[in-house]
Amino acid sequence: MATTVAKAAVGVDARDHAARITNVSKSFASPAGRHLVLDDITLDVAPGEFVTLLGASGCGKSTLLNLVAGLDQPTSGTISTDGRPALMFQEHALFPWLTAGKNIELALKLRGVPKAQRRTQAEELLELVRLTGAYRKRVHELSGGMRQRVAMARALAQDSRLLLMDEPFAALDAITRDVLHDELTRIWRETRLSVLFVTHNVREAVRLAQRVVLLSSRPGRVAREWVVDIEQPRRIEDADVAELSIEITEQLRGEIRRHGQH
Ligand SMILES: Nc1ncnc2c1ncn2[C@@H]1O[C@H](COP(=O)(O)OP(=O)(O)OP(=O)(O)O)[C@@H](O)[C@H]1O
Ligand SMILES: [Mg+2]
Repeated sequence: MATTVAKAAVGVDARDHAARITNVSKSFASPAGRHLVLDDITLDVAPGEFVTLLGASGCGKSTLLNLVAGLDQPTSGTISTDGRPALMFQEHALFPWLTAGKNIELALKLRGVPKAQRRTQAEELLELVRLTGAYRKRVHELSGGMRQRVAMARALAQDSRLLLMDEPFAALDAITRDVLHDELTRIWRETRLSVLFVTHNVREAVRLAQRVVLLSSRPGRVAREWVVDIEQPRRIEDADVAELSIEITEQLRGEIRRHGQH
């Protein structure tokens, strides 16, 4: 089932993968000594691929995403990405003193887009996330779902080949989340971006991904992966989505039982 093809980390053109994680381990110092969080993770994300990383709370999903983002360094192993990835978190992290449009323009500015083009590009990005007309809105005037749409537009403004998402819809109600799943799928298909999406919601993982990678806990290792061979666009309530989710949930429960937590 696994589609990851192990290749030598050295001498490979960066563009044949969006992200390449090779034998990555990460430990943190703790009062009890070294705390091994990730153990020998090897995982590729192909160009244009949508991968979800699934696992119990505390298994190291955010740690791994932060490593791929370059926010922290692995204790051992290597990570390479095709360019600098864009990031999106559960908290939108928009600047509250800027309008929706200016939040996006700031990302464009940091990317070096000339001032004269920023306004038009920001408007286009707002249109892509279906927020046409929200340019002048301040963050506090937007609903939670709208804020995440602006955050998505801002992430897309970075023009990265790889989008890293850490539970971006976890704080939203079920209906809003469902709508944003549709939007993300549409945007992913339109832009041909690669996405590495972290969640502990099995249905969400299956609804979105071409491949679901399950991490074990304590330490986090790749426990299993599934290719999701279900046509897009999918619905979270589709029978095929439900069936695979049940299978994956069983495995996840097994992982959690084995480690006696949560
Ligand atoms: N900077 C750090 N220093 C020390 N320990 C850390 C640090 N970052 C994470 N950890 C530990 O690593 C483990 C994994 O944390 P991480 O946040 O990656 O889990 P997660 O899978 O994202 O969980 P959740 O689903 O709850 O978000 C936890 O035990 C956490 O306490
Ligand atoms: Mg996390």
